[in-house]
Amino acid sequence: MNKYLQDTVTLHNGVNMPWFGIGVFKVEEGPELVNAVKFAIKHGYRSIDTAAIYGNEESVGQAIREGMKEAGISREELFVTSKVWNSDLGYETTLAAYDLTLKKLGLDYFDLYLIHWPVEGKYKEAWQALETLYMHGKVKAIGVSNFQVHHLEDLMKDAEVIPMVNQVEYHPKLTQKGVQLYCQEHGIQLEAWSPLMQGQLLDHPVLKEIADQYNKTVPQIILRWDLQNGVVTIPKSTKEHRIVENSSIFDFTLTVDDMERINSLNENHRIGPDPDNIDF
Ligand SMILES: NC(=O)c1ccc[n+]([C@@H]2O[C@H](COP(=O)([O-])OP(=O)(O)OC[C@H]3O[C@@H](n4cnc5c(N)ncnc54)[C@H](OP(=O)(O)O)[C@@H]3O)[C@@H](O)[C@H]2O)c1
Repeated sequence: MNKYLQDTVTLHNGVNMPWFGIGVFKVEEGPELVNAVKFAIKHGYRSIDTAAIYGNEESVGQAIREGMKEAGISREELFVTSKVWNSDLGYETTLAAYDLTLKKLGLDYFDLYLIHWPVEGKYKEAWQALETLYMHGKVKAIGVSNFQVHHLEDLMKDAEVIPMVNQVEYHPKLTQKGVQLYCQEHGIQLEAWSPLMQGQLLDHPVLKEIADQYNKTVPQIILRWDLQNGVVTIPKSTKEHRIVENSSIFDFTLTVDDMERINSLNENHRIGPDPDNIDF
């Protein structure tokens, strides 16, 4: 398992999703972003994660078109994810948001479309819209983001389609064991956002010690740990050397003991918002 950068996990509806990809949060429209996504495609990444709220869809779309051409690959070889923002949650508004995001990216379909946050009282209607998009063949897979177990339970009471993915904050200080177990039991693939804790774990002594043992860097250790824990991961970098570094994790395996050492660093510590207390 996880021997190659382009290895995929099969979601519960049969769609293959790369285990590894690039995220583009906090990168503005423009050449830095276009280049980052193109570097990623050039170096073998096949999965790109964006969202309407990132406000950078046009550059991501440009990079996808140019990157595919330069790498000589087709749209079907890429896996593109986007997310509906909170202000668009609702049946008609979510359908409209999907079309607008597609148009901004210049694509015909997304591989994965997610509800970005579980806004109380709004996510069920939005889910119905995602089900409509899915059943009409407009999107390959649908899922959620930042859903806790109780949100998933509530959603699934009325859902016709079980989410294929739940993308949550996940790193060595926030391992979300309960969410992961629930997702495993229901065939929902867990995906990590801010896997590197936005760069805040680079000097962690235990991670540094483990990194030295394997002749790897701390980001490489964390990203390998994600995969060995069965979690899809999408680290963000705009720098070519780091884009290469982050994906150079398919030539080693962490031992069970080292996996446990990293698992035990959990402090239930979030750097992003708590999904149960969102005011946006
Ligand atoms: N669903 C959600 O609510 C949600 C929320 C947040 C993020 N996300 C998604 O998850 C993706 C990843 O999360 P993130 O961007 O928040 O954080 P991240 O991937 O944990 O960390 C990104 C930060 O780490 C730095 N970095 C990357 N590789 C490095 C390396 N090898 N060595 C040293 N520093 C390195 C980057 O700087 P440089 O760019 O300068 O290299 C950047 O500052 C996002 O881009 C987005 O697509 C989703």
